[in-house]
Amino acid sequence: MGSSPEQRTGKEPGSQAGVPRHIAIIMDGNGRWAQMRGLPRVEGHRRGVEALRRTVDAASALGVNYLTVYSFSIENWRRPATEVSDLMGLIKFFVRRDLAELHRHGVRIRVVGSPDDVPPDVAALLSEAQETTRTNRGLNLVIAFNYGARQEIVQAARRIAEAVAAGTMRPEDVTEAAFARRLDTADIPDPDLVIRTSGELRLSNFLLWQSAYAEFVFTPVLWPDFSRGDLEAAVEAYRQRERRYGGLSMRAETPA
Ligand code: FPP
Repeated sequence: MGSSPEQRTGKEPGSQAGVPRHIAIIMDGNGRWAQMRGLPRVEGHRRGVEALRRTVDAASALGVNYLTVYSFSIENWRRPATEVSDLMGLIKFFVRRDLAELHRHGVRIRVVGSPDDVPPDVAALLSEAQETTRTNRGLNLVIAFNYGARQEIVQAARRIAEAVAAGTMRPEDVTEAAFARRLDTADIPDPDLVIRTSGELRLSNFLLWQSAYAEFVFTPVLWPDFSRGDLEAAVEAYRQRERRYGGLSMRAETPA
């Protein structure tokens, strides 16, 4: 999460021209997808896993370097116990079923979020997925699991406070870069494009610090229906945007 806005063009080395280096997705609408069909909510989540699988392939094919997906938020613990248990089951299913294939395709899996309260079997599988794929050089699939941006920011602040209290850091050492290094996403570039499906227009405690200069695409498509074409359309919308990072338009006329 290192680079400062000034240094970034949206066309960093490694990404293809105009393709965002890092796409982050709020995968929303699984429940409504199921409800519209008279199916249990878990069926929407199951289809959501298939949409995720498609999106990983599509992002790889586009030359995206990082894909972060919001798979379980800290707030999701408030859902009924059966739904929480279904979501835990699905993340295990996804890793068990797809890890070998993702590994073959060079995908590197990373997990961001709090380890607190994560069931040990889920934690073990997520560790295995990260360890197995650690040296892969293809798409970085970042799974935001038990993640909350405010909690992540508070934790970084606490780490800094502890370092200052211990005398290993001075207040003047507290810079944006020093702060970013203490977030879960320390070595992950900021998202260039954040997509939210299902027509909701909120960030819902997702990558608040990291999205400071991101472009946003909101689509009415429900996550289980999200297709390769939908990802391509979002990338096309991104390509049409002009990113200024607080500066002036490249197209702006210089006053005479
Ligand atoms: C939002 O839909 C989606 C979630 C809370 C979870 C997303 C999870 C998956 C796609 C599957 C599991 C993840 C992985 C990484 C395998 P919602 O239930 O809030 O939908 P609604 O707003 O229509 O009710």
